Amino acid sequence: MKRLLSLMRGLATGVVLALCTVLFVDIPDAQAEYGDVVINNYSDAAGMRPAVFPHWFHRMRFRCKVCHADLGFKMKAGGNEINMVKIIDGQFCGACHNGDIAWSVENCNLCHSGKPGTQTQVHESTIHKLAQPAGTPKK
Ligand code: HEC
Ligand code: HEC
Ligand code: HEC
Repeated sequence: MKRLLSLMRGLATGVVLALCTVLFVDIPDAQAEYGDVVINNYSDAAGMRPAVFPHWFHRMRFRCKVCHADLGFKMKAGGNEINMVKIIDGQFCGACHNGDIAWSVENCNLCHSGKPGTQTQVHESTIHKLAQPAGTPKK
């Protein structure tokens, strides 16, 4: 009887865990899923190429919460008034791009890789493009 009870308890835990997995694997819309975010509130005006944030690349490595709760990134392209003083101070991108968690802020061109003049927007990523069937006209 005791063994049966503990077996049942084990099963119940399994079910709860399985449920948690289902509940937390929440798949948002395709745009948020694949888009690179071009951020250009200040870059062009300062003579820098716009910054490009590869969302999918980061989302494979970190939970949403890390950036959108703990680090305070608003879920809006260009909605965060990011600048280099804040980044060097360890805010926003600078919370990780500090030479410790990820390569440091000296690598200007790795972030400022956008085509000059590209407005702030969510941009199709390569993954998205590759997923398109051959012969489909480009948007
Ligand atoms: C980890 C990513 C990252 C790196 C590395 C980086 N930047 Fe930025 N930078 C940004 C982001 C994001 C913004 C905000 C872009 C916008 O809104 O135009 C920004 C904004 C800027 C701006 C405009 C706002 C301001 O602070 O004056 C300048 C100029 C700039 N960066 C220069 C640089 C230079 C020079 C380097 C290298 C020494 C550098 N950045 C490295 C991400 C980065
Ligand atoms: C490494 C940090 C990071 C992680 C992890 C992350 N995001 Fe983001 N997210 C950002 C940044 C940076 C932006 C652009 C903000 C800006 O332009 O100022 C953004 C923008 C967004 C946007 C608005 C732009 C768009 O693509 O529609 C949505 C929605 C969003 N994130 C959802 C999510 C969800 C859902 C997750 C988890 C599955 C997630 N993010 C994980 C950093 C992150
Ligand atoms: C939560 C931590 C975190 C935050 C916040 C973050 N990054 Fe990153 N980022 C990483 C890590 C980790 C890598 C991988 C570094 C490596 O490969 O050494 C990376 C890599 C990158 C790459 C290279 C992608 C590639 O294809 O190799 C770019 C570009 C980049 N980040 C830009 C940004 C910009 C711009 C911001 C702010 C808007 C930002 N990151 C914020 C952790 C972060």
